Amino acid sequence: MLKAVARLWQGGGGFETPFGTVYAANLTTDPDFGIGDWAIEDFAKAVRQGLSPDDVPYYPVFTYAFYQDFSDQQIADLWAAFQTVAPVSEPVPATDLAFPFSERDSLKLWRAAFLHAPRTTSVLGQSDTWNRGCELVEGATHCAACHTERNIAGGRKVDTGRMQGNDVLPGGSKAPAITSAALVSSGWDVDSLSYALQTGITPSGDTFGGSMGEVVQMGTRFMTQEDRIVMATYLMDQSDE
Ligand code: HEC
Repeated sequence: MLKAVARLWQGGGGFETPFGTVYAANLTTDPDFGIGDWAIEDFAKAVRQGLSPDDVPYYPVFTYAFYQDFSDQQIADLWAAFQTVAPVSEPVPATDLAFPFSERDSLKLWRAAFLHAPRTTSVLGQSDTWNRGCELVEGATHCAACHTERNIAGGRKVDTGRMQGNDVLPGGSKAPAITSAALVSSGWDVDSLSYALQTGITPSGDTFGGSMGEVVQMGTRFMTQEDRIVMATYLMDQSDE
């Protein structure tokens, strides 16, 4: 069992993007291949700013853009959790991207153009439930990473494509639109949505496929029922579309 948990964080999963394949990093406590020799400040910078300890930008398949608002306490909690991951002394394959994305310096330009602040700020006049749902959906659970259209440089179209779906996800799957209007017209409500985030089962009795299956399997099913309900409440009423 411990072995299985360790393998979960050893990285190496490939993201096949239109620009080439990016491999997920080893996040175990191994000092050579993982993050075992990092200080919490390095971890905070990586998670909130997408920068390595040497200030080299990470590729945006790492969804740091959504974590920019994490509080010091949230970072400390995450850090404490990662300290419990057993070291795995294995490298991950080298990322293999086409020019200009092969040049990490070009990522600085990319960040200047496409690194958007998360929409996690509380909205006055909305309930605590809605605001908490907004924080989770727009931040930590990064639903928009897959459900928002991207331009040809892989930047999210935050103005025109927000939650409008994305037909070219890494690995070839398609994420449908999850604006409130789209969810209503597909027959979702707060109950069915929070249930699907727990079980992966949709109102028609199907199960989520592709990467959405993994979102539930590896993510939302571990959340509290209350968190899933506030997320569903926000999703059904993203009144600012
Ligand atoms: C890694 C990419 C990815 C992420 C992140 C992601 N989704 Fe999805 N989502 C998908 C894909 C792919 C599908 C299509 C699944 C299928 O065809 O069975 C989907 C389908 C859905 C659907 C079904 C919509 C419909 O009417 O058919 C809902 C609802 C949904 N996602 C909600 C969410 C929420 C809420 C989050 C954030 C917690 C989220 N998704 C995060 C990839 C993703």
